[in-house]
Amino acid sequence: MKKIKISPSILAGDFSQLGNEIKKLEKGGADMIHVDVMDGHFVPNLTIGPPVIKALRSHTKIPFDVHLMISPVHKYISAYVDAGADIITIHPESTDNLIDSINHIKKFKKKVGVSLNPDTGINVIRDQLDKIDLVLIMSVFPGFGGQKFIPEVISKIVELNKIKTEKKLNFDIEVDGGINFTNYKSVIEAGANILVSGTTIFKENNGDIKKNIDFLRVI
Ligand code: DX5
Ligand code: ZN
Repeated sequence: MKKIKISPSILAGDFSQLGNEIKKLEKGGADMIHVDVMDGHFVPNLTIGPPVIKALRSHTKIPFDVHLMISPVHKYISAYVDAGADIITIHPESTDNLIDSINHIKKFKKKVGVSLNPDTGINVIRDQLDKIDLVLIMSVFPGFGGQKFIPEVISKIVELNKIKTEKKLNFDIEVDGGINFTNYKSVIEAGANILVSGTTIFKENNGDIKKNIDFLRVI
């Protein structure tokens, strides 16, 4: 059976307790920590940046899956490397030259992710798929946690997974936004192997993080 990884988004956690929240996620079995970085420009919301990520880094050993929703992203990549990011995911629309930005992340020996908004097609990254470690399929328009899952993205996951198999590539397929106990199976069946979840993990079952993470892995 396919191993499903869970990347909880700290966006849904208590921002006054982020260190503790991360410890709770690690204890609950999270495979990595999804960090949503928003600049109030590329997306209409502002969250956290390198100093906060750096301060959190010592609270856990599991990887930081850093989702950059900032523009222009290129000049800030090194700051997120220094802060302790393990996976750096960027949006093609946030850089003048996607190939340059991919190579820049690789130069630091970090994993490269590229994210596709619900209305961005696979064609934008098709020729780069052999250089990418992870494709982050957005199942909401980025900017806020707690939004409703857009079911139309399922066909994009299926198509991407088909390309992955045909070309014998190894990138991860991660899905982000509105994942809940009703829709997570359809995302996995379509070909995703990493699920991001904020609201479901922090709020369902009275905030029983371990129970919620375990549930999202069961197919
Ligand atoms: C949206 C973010 C997501 C989101 C996930 O811009 O990238 O990571 O916050 O949170 P939920 O699971 O609440 O949709
Ligand atoms: Zn995200």
